[in-house]
Amino acid sequence: MCGIVGYLGDGNTYEVLIKGLHRLEYRGYDSAGIALVDTKGKLHVYKSKGKVENLENMCSGKDLEATAGIAHTRWATHGEPSDNNAHPHYSEDGNLALVHNGTIENYKVLKDALVKHGCKFHSETDTEVLVQLIEYIRLGNNCSLVEAVQEALKQVEGAYAIAVLEKDKPDTIIAARKSSPLVIGIGENEMFLASDASPFVEYTSNAVYLKDGEIAILKKGEPLKIIDLDNNNSKVDVTKLKMSISELEKGGYPHFMLKEIFEQPNTLRESIRGRVVDGGKRIIINGVRDNKETFVNARRIVFVACGTSWHAAMVGKYLFQDICDIPVVVEYASEFRYSNPVLGPGDIVIALSQSGETADTLAAVKIAREKGAFVFGVCNAVGSSIPRETHSGAYIHVGPEIGVASTKAFTGQVMVLTLIALSVAHLKGTLPEEEIARIGKALLDIPEKVEKVLKLNDKIERLSAIYTYAHNFLYLGRGCNFPTALEGALKLKEISYIHAEGYPAAEMKHGPIALIDEEMPSVIIAPKDHLYDKIVSNVQQVKARGGSIVAIVTEGDTVIKNLANHVLEIPEVPECLSPIVASVPLQLLAYYIAINKGKDVDMPRNLAKSVTVE
Ligand code: AGP
Ligand code: GLU
Repeated sequence: MCGIVGYLGDGNTYEVLIKGLHRLEYRGYDSAGIALVDTKGKLHVYKSKGKVENLENMCSGKDLEATAGIAHTRWATHGEPSDNNAHPHYSEDGNLALVHNGTIENYKVLKDALVKHGCKFHSETDTEVLVQLIEYIRLGNNCSLVEAVQEALKQVEGAYAIAVLEKDKPDTIIAARKSSPLVIGIGENEMFLASDASPFVEYTSNAVYLKDGEIAILKKGEPLKIIDLDNNNSKVDVTKLKMSISELEKGGYPHFMLKEIFEQPNTLRESIRGRVVDGGKRIIINGVRDNKETFVNARRIVFVACGTSWHAAMVGKYLFQDICDIPVVVEYASEFRYSNPVLGPGDIVIALSQSGETADTLAAVKIAREKGAFVFGVCNAVGSSIPRETHSGAYIHVGPEIGVASTKAFTGQVMVLTLIALSVAHLKGTLPEEEIARIGKALLDIPEKVEKVLKLNDKIERLSAIYTYAHNFLYLGRGCNFPTALEGALKLKEISYIHAEGYPAAEMKHGPIALIDEEMPSVIIAPKDHLYDKIVSNVQQVKARGGSIVAIVTEGDTVIKNLANHVLEIPEVPECLSPIVASVPLQLLAYYIAINKGKDVDMPRNLAKSVTVE
């Protein structure tokens, strides 16, 4: 979720806000906007799709005088990137301007109710519903802005960090947060607001991190006040910032990649938010719900993707065949597009892409449409090229992924594919409802399970030292963890530049086992699943040939513990969810080996975050 900046003081509000937006650009965004209020009762909003420079060009020559202001970089979740959907959003009477990071899950219900009461909307966003709701409450109850914000936020389900300006209150900014970050900077006769401290750390090192459920009242000439939704006062805890801007951008982590690995519990929560309901008994994927017949009558699913997304698609193959009883093929988009694919009605082509801009995948989507297939996108970047070309789709909502090596997008893709498979299984009746409910409940626990796996961080950092100077690696797995092995190998290759191959563990005896010796470490994904006994014998085969083994095992495993050189224990989860949990230690192992080798893990040589050319 993207960026918010606010300023209240005697400085040049516009300059501070624009500079602050530039500080937040590293987070990735698709639009930018600013609202300025002054003592003459003026509330101006300037906003545009695209880069902050576009906004600056729009503002040049305009009236930019202000005593307070708020600004925003958008990462679209509801409504594609456009000038209209950019923030700030006005209340209809023009009294309020609001910026928001996060997603309002129940925005549709709230919007329908407001429309019934005559409210008119000008954007497709969930955010506009919030500012209209606040103003509706304020006018209807003749109450203060703070009281209206408190009441509105009680009605909201979802994640938010917001800042609100009122035309008649040029000395005040109201802010609030739940699940999306917001921090206040306290300077000399001035206050700042931002998604992280990087926009204001050059002005003040006094920071107050807002907590979930809190509302901050920034009023000129008065100390910062923090209350909760029930008007109880909250303590104002000031933190002295010691981080550099570069460290702040990475949330205190040394690299974006490590930050994004550790974000996964939250990004997995975002990917299931509003989609797993009734304690897991019901799965809601709108794109499936709106195309029931297509999915029920599908004769085949064809995945098209590249790189890590192709690995997620490979997991999807096991999911859809096991859970939905639909035959699946997984194609490299780059090969698919030149192979004269034979497609027709009854074929569903699912395109997986974090960026939504990968040239090969985009080309594959266009060909699939031309050949009459129903094309469904699973992407991260809302409104990007691939989702605009598909018939329908589902976003993974993991927020901008900055590190070139994909981590949170992989687990988000696998999570969303699992949700799609479960919702199709419900439609087709290929899985008993109690089994769907069992897996659905387990899905809700996955973020905590990943949190537990992340506690292996220090052990993996130490372990990485042993393997840093290996020249080759084998990654082995079976079933839905064969793709996990492929993904683990790619992570290591692309950031440490060590050659690594992912293989189906059973395939070893058909040649690759000749490679095994003490110089060739093997990473073997071996959770307790229906193939466990088979993978145990694969571990024994590697050990018998002197290979060094790092095994990813289900916690409490004693068998492989006595065979492998090192084991990394992960919590027990339903088999179909194990790739999500098992991939996290592999991300950390690759990260620390690359760090030990002094590599640039965020921007590895020769690689781009989005391959928009052939
Ligand atoms: C994965 O770590 C790499 N960044 C790369 O393989 C990537 O997955 C591939 O280029 C596909 O990108 P996309 O998901 O944005 O389409
Ligand atoms: N959900 C809001 C939108 O789509 C905010 C997205 C963001 O966090 O930038 O506009």
